[in-house]
Amino acid sequence: MFSSRLPDNVATNRLTDAVRARRARGEPFIDLTESNPTRAGLDYPADLLAPLADARGLRYAPSPLGAIDARRAVSADYARQGMSVPAERIALTASTSDGYSLLFKLLADAGDDVLVPRPSYPLFDHLTRLDLVVARHYDLDPHGGWAIDFDSLERAITPRTRAVLVVSPNNPTGSFVSMAELDRLAAICAARGLAIIADEVFSDYELEPGAGAGVGRAAARTDVLSFALGGLSKSVGLPQVKLGWIAAGGPEPEVTAALERLELICDTYLAVSTPVQLAAPALLERGAAVRAHISTRIRRNYQTLQRAAGAVPSCRVLRSDGGWYAVLQVPSLESEEDLVLRLLADGVLAHPGYFFDFSRESFLVVSLLPPEAAFADGISRILRHFDCTVPRI
Ligand SMILES: Cc1ncc(COP(=O)(O)O)c(C=O)c1O
Repeated sequence: MFSSRLPDNVATNRLTDAVRARRARGEPFIDLTESNPTRAGLDYPADLLAPLADARGLRYAPSPLGAIDARRAVSADYARQGMSVPAERIALTASTSDGYSLLFKLLADAGDDVLVPRPSYPLFDHLTRLDLVVARHYDLDPHGGWAIDFDSLERAITPRTRAVLVVSPNNPTGSFVSMAELDRLAAICAARGLAIIADEVFSDYELEPGAGAGVGRAAARTDVLSFALGGLSKSVGLPQVKLGWIAAGGPEPEVTAALERLELICDTYLAVSTPVQLAAPALLERGAAVRAHISTRIRRNYQTLQRAAGAVPSCRVLRSDGGWYAVLQVPSLESEEDLVLRLLADGVLAHPGYFFDFSRESFLVVSLLPPEAAFADGISRILRHFDCTVPRI
């Protein structure tokens, strides 16, 4: 009765069940998987969403790629980041996930494939499958600061490959795609007629000072059809408002042809609400305060993690250049799943590395968003499992 876009087994896993059971028993725990900024105790100005009540929103005048004023506001936001992206090259979406879906419809037929990085964002399996696209993995090299392993990338290309996805900075490795990497990727893609899709939702968030400099940006390409994805969800911490965007780069004729087709797809769904389009300029501007608070929070938590793990010789924090996550390498004394269940019993929840397709165990992925005190408490609960300091005799 149901389509093969969905997995055969939609049952929950052992970890989800354990979390639910703990909640049902009313036993609190520190959630270091919390990646919803609106639940992280951040300061949101109380009237931040007032622009959504603009009375002009009472009138419906749909424009498939989005209202031009909202697209101009996104263009101005790129200018804030030092990039020149014309409003005409920007399409509004309901979210980044929506952006992926629109681009898969634009670029791929059923059964075509796209290359996705490993380790990375677990949603790719679902996003591709729901659009009948096959996800093929290429590796990021853990020993080279998670740089793209170009041998594995070229091996992954098939005659049905339509696009290469990059995430910069990546979730969860925190690695940016450098300008040199993007140049090399562009040469590979241009030679084979592949597009680049770059998820840049975390591009505002640097963890290591200066790490965001010299980073490759997809919308700035002139040599290969490229699409950068961004949105309010991360850039101003408003995932519930549902506004994202696609910014196209590449040779003019290809960009024009792509945008004409994207317009047709967007016209079919018209998924972005009028109030959010009217509010976009104000939300992008006023949201800067939330972005600043998030930046401070994640940097402090990252430093806390480095300091705390530095005192436990068997654990290591992997360098994370940007984004909202950090990776802790821990001894493999049991499976990651068993470890995470044991930690939950001790009142702290972290993601196991296998969620993100790390090539081996044992890694824990933690969100850097939780309030500082809870974060520090959660990290010390994790580390004490590995802290076998010899008692003085
Ligand atoms: C890399 C990455 N892209 C996209 C998203 C989702 O963004 P949106 O809420 O705009 O769909 C996430 C959410 O965690 C993410 O980690």
